[in-house]
Amino acid sequence: MKLLDGSLVAAHYKEKIKEEVKSLISQGSKKPHLAAILVGNNPASEAYVGAKVRTCEEIGFASTLLRLDAQIDEARLLKEIAALNENKDVDGILVQLPLPKHIREASIINAIDPSKDVDGFHPVSIGKLVLGQDTFLPATPYGILLMLSYYGIDLSGKHCVVVGRSNIVGTPMSILLSRNNAYGNATVTLTHSKTKDLKAHCLQADVIIAAIGIPYFLKADMVKEGAIVIDVGINRIEDASKKSGSRLVGDVDFDAVAPQCSYITPVPKGVGPMTICGLMQNTLNAVKNKR
Ligand code: GUN
Repeated sequence: MKLLDGSLVAAHYKEKIKEEVKSLISQGSKKPHLAAILVGNNPASEAYVGAKVRTCEEIGFASTLLRLDAQIDEARLLKEIAALNENKDVDGILVQLPLPKHIREASIINAIDPSKDVDGFHPVSIGKLVLGQDTFLPATPYGILLMLSYYGIDLSGKHCVVVGRSNIVGTPMSILLSRNNAYGNATVTLTHSKTKDLKAHCLQADVIIAAIGIPYFLKADMVKEGAIVIDVGINRIEDASKKSGSRLVGDVDFDAVAPQCSYITPVPKGVGPMTICGLMQNTLNAVKNKR
């Protein structure tokens, strides 16, 4: 069993981006600029946005963090997005999800200028992804592809079972892996909470992408010998032995599943750091698209 080390791989890609930024700046370009909007103060969202802003600093990007009150109405939030769309210095815009219940997520995502949609959530970005056109890929699927590429893992002809059909991970991942492209050509089964006999599907898989958001969901008896397991879950569970009273676990019962895998990602330090890499690469691409 080989561990797919998200921290190591993310450091590799971040270094490459950092070098590219230096080179762009030496040619007279401005710094890539990512603007993040955080509505309210959901602790998980605070942590994710904080990590994104810190990474910007690390690799030579400018960043703006717009913190907005949880009570903000949709019209005001749309105005903030319109201002960022207009702002020539801003290359990429992300609105951290989830949003408070009174705000319609689709109306916010649809308001982002597709040329600045570095999260790849806009219908234009998703439409292009489905058609195999060049576009911003959603950060988590993109990060997973970067990780597989780093380790030289080719999924062509393999059977991939994606568990979970979210707009952010499961659905775009299933499409990307099934397309005829350098990283795709897999045979993909997209499974979800209503799938009958999910275990039988998983047992057929050469590759399992677990993105269902349930701690320890994927058990050892659901994984065939030699499978590749990618754990997208970031679930916080109580743990009295920790000072914080909690710890992060994935969607995979790691200790039981790992011995029978050819490759597996840990949680933390697996897919998480790669998601940030995907976002940063998209922001750099946004700058390059303008040149
Ligand atoms: N919430 C969970 N994952 C993500 C992500 O990749 N981007 C944004 N904006 N919000 C998220």
